[in-house]
Amino acid sequence: MFIFTAFIHALCSVPALPADSHLQALTGGRPSLEVPFFEYQIQTGLSYGEVYVGGHGGRIEGVIVVFGPGQDFARSECSDGTHSEPSNAYVAKLPSEMQQWWQLHIRPKYAELMQVSLGGVDARRSLWHIRLLAVHPKHQRNGVGRGLMDGIMRKANAGRQRMCLEVYNDRLVRHFTRLGFRVKGTKNFSSYQGGFPLFCMVREPC
Ligand SMILES: *[C@@H]1O[C@H](CO)[C@@H](O)[C@H](O)[C@H]1NC(C)=O
Repeated sequence: MFIFTAFIHALCSVPALPADSHLQALTGGRPSLEVPFFEYQIQTGLSYGEVYVGGHGGRIEGVIVVFGPGQDFARSECSDGTHSEPSNAYVAKLPSEMQQWWQLHIRPKYAELMQVSLGGVDARRSLWHIRLLAVHPKHQRNGVGRGLMDGIMRKANAGRQRMCLEVYNDRLVRHFTRLGFRVKGTKNFSSYQGGFPLFCMVREPC
């Protein structure tokens, strides 16, 4: 995990944009929870999925966390909060009213979004789920993120497997539409910081 420390701190060194309602909501608007939030995302990948990095000169400039077919990506998100999952370690850091909101709102609503967008557990387990795609703020728009996505798209095409991801605004919907993803389901989440949508997008292999 420590090899990601500098990268995560770089991600969190730029203030979350007000437009990033999703990160604001999931951290309760607390900048001090941004580092633990990204650690939790990457730790979930190291525990249950795959984590790939991209960059130059031995420096991590981008990270993608994915769950391949057979790696049940929603396992930790849909768990009942009683196991020692990375998500529970993160939730434990939240103020108590947010812990309730996470268990009673975020987890069930996310499970519903997965159900309407992807169908049952078997369909969910047969695809590639992109959990996190993050690029160092100083190295954006130089192809690192695209290179990481291309790597997964090649694997999915070779295996004739679908890919899915969730995004939280129209700009990201347009971006991933250009890569062949289509919106399959949408849910509006509420939070102490205001509501935010999640769009579940799916890409068929080609
Ligand atoms: C979410 O909220 C937006 C804005 O209020 C609304 O246009 C949209 O229909 C809602 N979507 C769902 C799935 O409820």
